[in-house]
Amino acid sequence: MNQIITPKKNIHATITVPGDKSISHRSIMFGALSKGITEIEGFLMGEDCLSTINCFQKLGINIEQYQNKILVHGKGLHGLTAPTEILDVGNSGTTLRLISGILSAQPFCSQLTGDSSIQKRPMNRIAVPLRNMGAVLKGNDDNKLFAPFTIEGRQLKGITYALPVASAQVKSAILLAGIFAECETVVIEPQPTRDHTEIMLQYMGADIQKIGNEIHCKPAEQLYAKKIVVPADISSAAYFMVMACICENSEILLKNVGINQTRTGIIDALKAMGGNIAIENESIINGEKIANIRVKYSALHGTTIGGADIPRLIDEIPVIAVAACFAKGTTIIKDAQELKVKESNRIQTIITELKKFGADITETEDGMIINGVEHLKGCTVESHNDHRIALAMSIAGACALGETTIVDAECVNISFPNFYDIVTAI
Ligand code: S3P
Repeated sequence: MNQIITPKKNIHATITVPGDKSISHRSIMFGALSKGITEIEGFLMGEDCLSTINCFQKLGINIEQYQNKILVHGKGLHGLTAPTEILDVGNSGTTLRLISGILSAQPFCSQLTGDSSIQKRPMNRIAVPLRNMGAVLKGNDDNKLFAPFTIEGRQLKGITYALPVASAQVKSAILLAGIFAECETVVIEPQPTRDHTEIMLQYMGADIQKIGNEIHCKPAEQLYAKKIVVPADISSAAYFMVMACICENSEILLKNVGINQTRTGIIDALKAMGGNIAIENESIINGEKIANIRVKYSALHGTTIGGADIPRLIDEIPVIAVAACFAKGTTIIKDAQELKVKESNRIQTIITELKKFGADITETEDGMIINGVEHLKGCTVESHNDHRIALAMSIAGACALGETTIVDAECVNISFPNFYDIVTAI
């Protein structure tokens, strides 16, 4: 599907973006492993999270889907049953990596696969620690693991593991395996990454403690179902935060957004660029901080983003690159090699597509350098079937001169199904 984006200005809108993708995945997975019924409000009905639902249904979990809520009939820590079909995670790296931690400890064998993008993403990063714990993961190549692969469940033992790359997905896979293991598991992070797994597992009764840069996880006896309210996804709010900053004369209020500090790098980056952003009505829901975010049109200037900020805004870099095109001076994004192994090679796809708008953007080893330009010009861009590229390029298009066409635009359904409806309506 092609989507036409027309230029916008003078936007005054209040928007509630869909539920947080990371938290939605975890609510299904941990709900499935809990005793009792987990009621989920605000669940993201995006394709990735629906893949997680589908996989857990194949593992014997009854999941009821209603308009406003999801009910997960948890079977406790040892209630999953052997799947009779291959588990297909679609485009979802979070589903594949987290479920692998769980399946490594089950008394049965599972086969896992996903789409052509997922089959290119590195799974060694989970295979190495899970094999250290005693898990058996078998793919086509003994040295490097890629989907499709098979997991033969085993009784695992706890390990202490220093993550070579900062990754919440890898951390979570190890912690989930650790819940089932024989003794304590410790994960050491090079930099803090999103901690939704730790927060939700603690909330459901697991013994998980953060001590400095170490996360200590004790084997669990049982997890207990609790109601989960999913905050609006800051990664989806980010598109409208940038839109408000760069579209002349605009003000956007984003409601009930998750502002967990491991995720708020986008707010800090935009503020460092001169963005006018206010946080209002803060509260806490099931251990997660939420707030309304008010963003006003701002005269942006360039900045440097790198180091420990990167994991706090890794998914927002495509749209930060768009903001940088509208900023005065130079923006440098460094230490962001992880972008190369996302749904697409995002260093390449961001640069290729933004150049079509007339952006001044150069690739580096670990990121990119962007010089602000007078204006972007509407054009035809490819999504590369990467939702965050389609979403970011739509924001570039909305603030460019003339019309923009996004080719293969439907991939936004992965994380933000009603995105074009909102963009058209404001
Ligand atoms: C996620 C972690 C991040 C992020 C992804 C979601 C999660 O990936 O990019 O979109 O839910 O744990 P990495 O853990 O690979 O950095």
